[in-house]
Amino acid sequence: MMNDINIRPYRSEDRDMLRKLCCDVADRGSPIESLFPDREVAADLLTKYYTDYEPSSTFVAINNDGRMAGYVTGCMDNRRYGLVLFWLIIPAVLIKAFKRGVFFKSEVHRMVVQGMKNWRRLFTWRKTSFHSHQGHVHIGISSDFRGHQVGKRLMEALIEHARQSGIVELAASVHEGNTSACAFFEAMGFEVRERSPMIGIQEGKEGRYVALMFVKTVSSM
Ligand SMILES: CC(C)(COP(=O)(O)OP(=O)(O)OC[C@H]1O[C@@H](n2cnc3c(N)ncnc32)[C@H](O)[C@@H]1OP(=O)(O)O)[C@@H](O)C(=O)NCCC(=O)NCCS
Repeated sequence: MMNDINIRPYRSEDRDMLRKLCCDVADRGSPIESLFPDREVAADLLTKYYTDYEPSSTFVAINNDGRMAGYVTGCMDNRRYGLVLFWLIIPAVLIKAFKRGVFFKSEVHRMVVQGMKNWRRLFTWRKTSFHSHQGHVHIGISSDFRGHQVGKRLMEALIEHARQSGIVELAASVHEGNTSACAFFEAMGFEVRERSPMIGIQEGKEGRYVALMFVKTVSSM
């Protein structure tokens, strides 16, 4: 199967497939609908920076039948990411969400309230991780293609790109219950640097979990 899958840099024509796959795997490998009701808005929040503002740091895995088997989206400058997200993406997403009636949905109200309870972690993360020499990754493999080294090949391409771009560290935030992702990042040489207690909605109920920050050093300062 490996030989049928081509790993290559992202192109603009991949955009729709990448947004769909991201929403298909967003809840620890399952579709986003258990977390958030509107795919269009979720895809903007989760992928717009990478596809529209830094497309050179994204790689895709394309099966020989044209299906997207996986993607890795990357950012090579966390400070720039924070600025673009805060000033450009979030305002546009809020307007779009309002027009689409997203704020009238009860599950979104609960998410906003729960998100506000995590303000301490967001503030700390910004202080320690939003520097120009730090980048981050998100990875998603279609359930049909997991366990065939597609994630490994994508991550190797992204790590090589990160080395060439000169950044020092790559980070990934993972829910501690996402055991396959934790095993994957460990296998790729990432180490847990931070454990942040969080409050989130799980299976319709508010619960506590730990967000792990995996970090890999890719080059020296
Ligand atoms: C985590 C994920 C990216 C792994 O991708 P993958 O293509 O299935 O992983 P690979 O086949 O390349 O595995 C590489 C190594 O990671 C480890 N690994 C991957 N999945 C694993 C699992 N379910 N259990 C244990 N180890 C695992 C293994 O060491 C594996 O090496 P091996 O096959 O030689 O044993 C994939 O399961 C996924 O997309 N999950 C949903 C999205 C997600 O959680 N993303 C992470 C948050 S950013």
